[in-house]
Amino acid sequence: MSLRIVVVNPKGGSGKTTIASNLLSAYAKAGRRAALIDRDRQGSATRWLRQRPASLPPIHGIAAYEEPPANVTRTFAMMVPPDTERVVVDTAAALSRHELVDAVRNADKILVPVLPSDIDIHAATRCIGDLLVHAKVPRGQAKLGVIANRVKRNTVMYHALMRFLDSLGVPIVAVLRDVQAYVRAAEMGVGVSELRASEAGPELRQWRGILRWIDDDLLPQPRMPRPDDRSRREQTPPARGHLRIVRNG
Ligand SMILES: Nc1ncnc2c1ncn2[C@@H]1O[C@H](COP(=O)(O)OP(=O)(O)OP(=O)(O)O)[C@@H](O)[C@H]1O
Ligand SMILES: [Mg+2]
Repeated sequence: MSLRIVVVNPKGGSGKTTIASNLLSAYAKAGRRAALIDRDRQGSATRWLRQRPASLPPIHGIAAYEEPPANVTRTFAMMVPPDTERVVVDTAAALSRHELVDAVRNADKILVPVLPSDIDIHAATRCIGDLLVHAKVPRGQAKLGVIANRVKRNTVMYHALMRFLDSLGVPIVAVLRDVQAYVRAAEMGVGVSELRASEAGPELRQWRGILRWIDDDLLPQPRMPRPDDRSRREQTPPARGHLRIVRNG
């Protein structure tokens, strides 16, 4: 089973690549087979992946902005290995509304990083509006979440950002601090989850929360059979398709 997580915000520099790469790193660290689809022709996430030490769990990478070789179809070039469990899509800045809608079309989860600044808050209002109205992302199904990024707590802008995010009615999945650990991890082809706990500090808890939010309602939860399960099974045919979530990368 593969889940597709798309990181979007047409505002440049909001932290899309940082979040995509840290998500991939957190999955790799958790033993999940993860793949990057880099849709930004800047290729920042692909460059990050190239820096990744061979000694660490591998992450499959697809530079979707590159033309496939002449004898290979685009569909084939975009295919992730069949055992991939998590596909993380990094997107470009300055997407048009149409491109934004296209980028999130097959997403299971959408993450929007937002920085604490007036300009970024304004841009995020538009991005989230487009996702809700034009991409028709349902607000109530925990498909769309925001990440407050590069925050300095107890600043005026931090409080303004949190008030704004609260007012959206979209879950705030994490609040990431503005710390050098992200810059250091990016240079080494890792994420903060793969740094020493002393270096990553409280960020690790935020990343555990992000993974939980992504997985919680999508994965079938193991549960103990209830006493009335048997009689219920006899009354209704098993709804197989309902329980299986299969997505192509
Ligand atoms: N939480 C953070 N703490 C410190 N630095 C950060 C943090 N998040 C992002 N950065 C830094 O901010 C810069 C922009 O981040 P990033 O490249 O992830 O944004 P982006 O949205 O992908 O940009 P673009 O729109 O150009 O693709 C990078 O130098 C990154 O290292
Ligand atoms: Mg980027």
